[in-house]
Amino acid sequence: CLFWKTKQSSFYFLDRFYTNRISFRMLINQHTLLFGNDINPAHPKHIGSIDPNCSVAEVVTDAYETAKMVCEQYYSAAPELKIEEFNAKASQKPIQAVYVPSHLFHMLFELFKNAMRATNELHECSKEGLPLIKAKVTLGKEDLSVKISDRGGGVALQKIDRLFNYTYSTAPTPSLDSKRVPLAGFGHGLPISRLYARYFQGDLKLYSMEGVGTDAVIYLKALSSESFERLPVFNKSAWRHYQEGPGADDWSNPSKEPRDASKYKAKR
Ligand SMILES: Nc1ncnc2c1ncn2[C@@H]1O[C@H](COP(=O)(O)OP(=O)(O)OP(=O)(O)O)[C@@H](O)[C@H]1O
Ligand SMILES: [Mg+2]
Repeated sequence: CLFWKTKQSSFYFLDRFYTNRISFRMLINQHTLLFGNDINPAHPKHIGSIDPNCSVAEVVTDAYETAKMVCEQYYSAAPELKIEEFNAKASQKPIQAVYVPSHLFHMLFELFKNAMRATNELHECSKEGLPLIKAKVTLGKEDLSVKISDRGGGVALQKIDRLFNYTYSTAPTPSLDSKRVPLAGFGHGLPISRLYARYFQGDLKLYSMEGVGTDAVIYLKALSSESFERLPVFNKSAWRHYQEGPGADDWSNPSKEPRDASKYKAKR
């Protein structure tokens, strides 16, 4: 129980630490890009690192292509991608957002790597080849969502929360000497991507059907006026978190009872 408490406190600490890091980097980037001498020739319309007309499908394609390159170094092939867009506000228009493309790229790159690894691990020897990865970009009144769906066998419901724990990984630890970019193994891809999504009031969730595949959904705010920074503050509640950790479990779970429960009860 003490081990679990310590772990939870360290995850809480790391969430706050990495959120601060994202924010510092954002500030430094904005400052150097806005007050530097030159306009960024690659992106003259960007305001610092923010793209006022960020084409979400383009970032999805970029992230997919980059992940595909990494995946092909490890496995002989990578699954193909199918993108769909559904703009509920203006059906003919491509979906755009006021967003930091590098943040979106980071999240999508991590989700594609995970989806490609799961797909390859399950279907590597299959004669039918690798099933597609599907990306669906949707825009509603409040949310802009991007769903990445794979057929990589999914994860059991009980394990889903664990996937967001820092250092949790089912891949072997990557060798730091290797010249190849690691495809998986640090156990930081999901928790850090979720922080990026939450940083501008969005979120990242996984929905899985064990035996079939996983849907990973990035939720962003459709309105830029609602995408304000989410930063950790240090108050009484944060202090209590470090001191107490999560409360004790208040649900029965027979599998957690001592094996020799009958002896134990008889003695009392
Ligand atoms: N789409 C998916 N299908 C099946 N399992 C998944 C999927 N996405 C994540 N996982 C599981 O969640 C674990 C944690 O994912 P996460 O991206 O955080 O770390 P990783 O991929 O192991 O390493 P890295 O930090 O290099 O990305 C993975 O090791 C894998 O077991
Ligand atoms: Mg990963």
